[in-house]
Amino acid sequence: MPVTKDDVLAALGKVAAPDGTALPKTAALSEIVAADGKVFFSISVDAAAVQAWEPVRKRAEEAVKAIPGVTSAMVALTAERKGGTAAPAPPAQAAPGARARSGQSEAVGVPGVESIIAVASGKGGVGKSTTAVNLALGLRDLGMKVGILDADIYGPSLPKLLAIREKPQTIGGTRLKPIERQGLTVMSIGFLIEEETPMIWRGPMVMSALTQMLREVEWGTLDIMVVDMPPGTGDAQLTMAQQVPLKGAVIVSTPQDLALIDARRGIAMFKRVNVPVLGIVENMSMFICPKCGERSDIFGHGGARREAERLGVPFLGEVPLDMAIRETSDAGLPIVASQPDSPHAEAYRTIAAKVREQLGSAAAARPAPKIVIEA
Ligand SMILES: Nc1ncnc2c1ncn2[C@@H]1O[C@H](COP(=O)(O)OP(=O)(O)OP(=O)(O)O)[C@@H](O)[C@H]1O
Ligand SMILES: [Mg+2]
Repeated sequence: MPVTKDDVLAALGKVAAPDGTALPKTAALSEIVAADGKVFFSISVDAAAVQAWEPVRKRAEEAVKAIPGVTSAMVALTAERKGGTAAPAPPAQAAPGARARSGQSEAVGVPGVESIIAVASGKGGVGKSTTAVNLALGLRDLGMKVGILDADIYGPSLPKLLAIREKPQTIGGTRLKPIERQGLTVMSIGFLIEEETPMIWRGPMVMSALTQMLREVEWGTLDIMVVDMPPGTGDAQLTMAQQVPLKGAVIVSTPQDLALIDARRGIAMFKRVNVPVLGIVENMSMFICPKCGERSDIFGHGGARREAERLGVPFLGEVPLDMAIRETSDAGLPIVASQPDSPHAEAYRTIAAKVREQLGSAAAARPAPKIVIEA
């Protein structure tokens, strides 16, 4: 018998909120998704009450896991700010330790993972996921052990980019085993949420779904983990940038002015949360006509390099607009994996080498972390 929402609600009826009310009777419970024995939902509470609610989250997860037929349960505790859309206090102005004290955003490293970097863009559709996966493969080619985490809750891409159709297995009922593909250790939020999951529900999931993907997945030993971030610089992205213990961020932009304005916002966001910007990649930099070989700079080639210089961040390289890049991605075999001898694969490997170099200098230049972790 498949597990239904009613089964989950019945189990949650025995879990009490901090004030004693049964959890389904509070307004904190999100919609419940139950599919193939996997159950997901979130509990949204005021940021100030997060600590009181964490044991409730745990009990809810345990109660759901105990339902016969449930293979995994993911319960996210989401801190909401009162008053709707106001931006969160900028971390730079927050008191030391405030990040940790919020209970949700302890940017503690992931055991076994040496460095975590984000691939981000201010704007959607600029080729972030394409860059993330090819960069990961480029880093692999440099001899590194690489993981890739698809944190784009709005449009997870890795299942398609790496032709992954299987679901991750659970280990001991609680931890997830990532998928191995092309020598990469892969985890995507797309493995966990169904495509039909309403956006409204995905939004509140951001905060702890990400933490769970970092901490409840058996990543093993990795030299580097590449995180494909959701586009934009709003609250969700800021929270993610804060939550993941990032050693640095790679910003992807197309060369046009409008995209560069968004890229600038992306850079500002990472600076705000004290994450070093490792550099900018110019994607769809130029177009080489496959018929005549003539080059045209459709979007105004070189804009990202100039912007990088202006902002004093490294320029990591450029990738042309080429059908082969799109086709290989669509086919689930990104170009660095399928055409390793092509000039495009070379371009990605050059970017990977620069990223590695920048990581070295970012680590050396980075002051000791100011975050105070509470027990
Ligand atoms: N250099 C390139 N040449 C040709 N096509 C490209 C290139 N880079 C990306 N694309 C194509 O552009 C589309 C968008 O790319 P991608 O999904 O990587 O962008 P994204 O920034 O991750 O988008 P989103 O914001 O939706 O997550 C895809 O169809 C991809 O195959
Ligand atoms: Mg993407």
